[in-house]
Amino acid sequence: MRILLLLLSFALPMYLSAQPGTTMQAIQLQEFGGPEVLQIREIPRPEPGPGELLVRVRAAAVNPVDTGIRSGGASGLSGAVPPYVPGFDVSGVVTAIGPGVSNFDVGDEVFAMLSLRRGGAYAEYTIVKEDEAALKPPGVTHAEAASIPLVALTAWQTLFEIADLQAGQTVLIHAGAGGVGSIAIQLAKWRGATVIATASDYNHDFLRELGVDIPVDYRTQRFEDFAANVDVVLDSIGGDTQLRSMAILKEGGILVSIVGLTPEGRNPQRNIRVTSILVQPNSEQLGKIADLIDAGVIRPIVSYRFPLHEATLAHEQSQTRRTRGKIILEID
Ligand SMILES: NC(=O)c1ccc[n+]([C@@H]2O[C@H](COP(=O)([O-])OP(=O)(O)OC[C@H]3O[C@@H](n4cnc5c(N)ncnc54)[C@H](OP(=O)(O)O)[C@@H]3O)[C@@H](O)[C@H]2O)c1
Repeated sequence: MRILLLLLSFALPMYLSAQPGTTMQAIQLQEFGGPEVLQIREIPRPEPGPGELLVRVRAAAVNPVDTGIRSGGASGLSGAVPPYVPGFDVSGVVTAIGPGVSNFDVGDEVFAMLSLRRGGAYAEYTIVKEDEAALKPPGVTHAEAASIPLVALTAWQTLFEIADLQAGQTVLIHAGAGGVGSIAIQLAKWRGATVIATASDYNHDFLRELGVDIPVDYRTQRFEDFAANVDVVLDSIGGDTQLRSMAILKEGGILVSIVGLTPEGRNPQRNIRVTSILVQPNSEQLGKIADLIDAGVIRPIVSYRFPLHEATLAHEQSQTRRTRGKIILEID
């Protein structure tokens, strides 16, 4: 009997921690730092509360903000405090729903942008609030779907909600080959705008495939030589690029920065509008974006895939700032 009790006292804790349904694998930071702090751990699986979905994650995207939070630099933006599970973009399957959920059911394939105040996508399971999610477009993979929410919502909110981009207008999109830029180009072309976009020359064929009318190599050319009197600028670079972009706006034109305003941007000396945004989750806009993916208008661009336990390599790639489209973490 004593031997049985002894055996149980060792085996029971192991059984509880390994019991399916109670724990999950996740990348969890114990401290801020370099990519090496992205270690895989066995942690408790979350439970969905009111208005929440528990999603079995099949793919999560890496965004530059993830690397900023991981290093501690952007933790103010997210309120992140270790232990912390990073990641804001997710695609997967609903496995449980909390009270009051009305738009989704167990078994639905969904994709979502999680609140910047919460995160949690680099995990086998994550909580998605009902108003952060939309049904995954059926014609794309989970990896492709996960590449979309944060960057497409950024582009949508910049171009349509704030700048009110119209057919026939001209837009300058900086970093056209990146995550935000490659989707912004496709949305602007769908709207009927003329698109000028900056990228290194090796990405110019790619930009033309996306519909860009005038690609500019920011390393060897001045965009001022190709763009004048533009209606809208999407600024994902800041600094001197922001200043020079303000100068090529037409009277009454608008520059929307996604990286913050320079002092001159806060106080423009001409009749132009200069503003900045921080992307917000929005299930209605994400649903419209899903429809555009279904219709073949928006093509997800995934250039790197890593298994969850190689999140370190994914962050190293993101930090090169040379990624075309998106980097994805896949979870079997
Ligand atoms: N405010 C918000 O809500 C919000 C939302 C999303 C992103 N952001 C921020 O916006 C920035 C862009 O995000 P992202 O996800 O698109 O980044 P990303 O995917 O990492 O961008 C990579 C691309 O940037 C291009 N690039 C690098 N330096 C450039 C320059 N000086 N001029 C033009 N292109 C340049 C590279 O193009 P080449 O290889 O062709 O050189 C590469 O394709 C990041 O700082 C991110 O944190 C803010």
